[in-house]
Amino acid sequence: MALAGAARAAVSLNAMSCAAGGSAKDLGAPSLAALPVHRLSSTAAHGVQLPAIRPMMAAAGHHAKSCKVQATVAAAPAASSAAVQEEGRVYNFAAGPACLPYNVLKEAQADLINWKGTGASVLEMSHRSKQFLSIIQKAEADLRELLAIPDNYKVLFLQGGATSQFSAIPLNLAGPEDAVDYVVTGSWGSKAVQEAGKYAKANLAATGKPGKFTDIPPQSEWKLTQGAKYLHICANETIQGVEFKEYPEVEGETVLVADMSSNFCSKPVDVSKFGLIYAGAQKNVGPSGVTIVIVREDLLGKAQPSTPVMLDYKIHSNNESLYNTPPCFSIYMTGLVFADLLKQGGLAAVAKKNEEKAQLLYDAIEGSDGFFKCPVAKPVRSLMNVPFTMRDPELEAEFLKEATAQGLIQLKGHRSVGGVRASIYNALPLAGIQKLVHLMKDFQAKHS
Ligand SMILES: Cc1ncc(COP(=O)(O)O)c(C=O)c1O
Repeated sequence: MALAGAARAAVSLNAMSCAAGGSAKDLGAPSLAALPVHRLSSTAAHGVQLPAIRPMMAAAGHHAKSCKVQATVAAAPAASSAAVQEEGRVYNFAAGPACLPYNVLKEAQADLINWKGTGASVLEMSHRSKQFLSIIQKAEADLRELLAIPDNYKVLFLQGGATSQFSAIPLNLAGPEDAVDYVVTGSWGSKAVQEAGKYAKANLAATGKPGKFTDIPPQSEWKLTQGAKYLHICANETIQGVEFKEYPEVEGETVLVADMSSNFCSKPVDVSKFGLIYAGAQKNVGPSGVTIVIVREDLLGKAQPSTPVMLDYKIHSNNESLYNTPPCFSIYMTGLVFADLLKQGGLAAVAKKNEEKAQLLYDAIEGSDGFFKCPVAKPVRSLMNVPFTMRDPELEAEFLKEATAQGLIQLKGHRSVGGVRASIYNALPLAGIQKLVHLMKDFQAKHS
């Protein structure tokens, strides 16, 4: 049977019983009507056409005879980079949405039409089904294990991006007359403090702006407010490539709040030092659509009365992130990424790889005799986003063109700062950085 036929069978409500302990009807008929069969049968994750699934299934020793076959294609084996190249994949240095682990994409591809024998895709499941509950609960459990999140912290899977948290944080953690401190080390912190000013007395305790955000102002110069409800930092500024290597201590009732969007799960973090951590998934842990908030329980339930229901942490916490329809597929994908990170040995192992990757690139920049330059002060250079410029800025366009031609994509710096930026998140393989460094050396030799 052609796979498209299998897919048609797979979306039938009469498909086989559920491996996760439920039946297809638990998924809820209305949500199953959501996607037309021809869309499901012709396109898999990330626009990969269905024929691409066939060799993978054959390699896994399965035959596309029935929907049951699809159901039994579980996690794809770890792929060599040769296999990745075979599928025409490139090294994607995008800042976010960013590259995802190949294994995870393969697993999602295999699951797309028929998740664990339910006969339906995660894209079509009711968020109230026991299948989806098993997905979100496992995602949370795996994240708790990865970050060793203490029991007195809640984990929320929310929508609206990290940008919504810029408003939700002051609305939930402060009153309109309360002081809240911000140390701004780049573009995202700037946006956060601006938004906070609408809902609380936002104090710019320090800013790296005069130095063009190339360093973190020394803590001795921070003008913190006594009794501030919280101190907000951006753990890693994605655009400027400035990363906190150590987190500041706070005093009294003040809690530390961190935007970890672009270094979330890139290394171990002592969660107990924070009142709240938040991160959009689309850099290190999944596709866009879900934002993770980790918040200390005692901070909940004090939101300003005018707080929109969708921004009230207590409501989401009381409802286990299911107050309304959550971004189900994004949550499922982040769950696959968390499981993959655990399989890699957890965040200490991941951090080691990230250090090695970043070192290789920074060494290449430093060793270029000024041909390539990183403007960021060495002690705060990000392990995730590496911005650099060229001695001759006129060569940048040619460099980027050559990089793209070699399958090294999305290296253009953010439109606000220009230059080159290599985002080297967890899922960007070492081989991609080796290839970039090779190109940098070749390019320099050609133009010196
Ligand atoms: C550090 C940081 N914070 C916040 C944001 C905004 O995230 P979102 O687009 O999910 O609202 C981004 C986006 O790139 C970011 O890098």
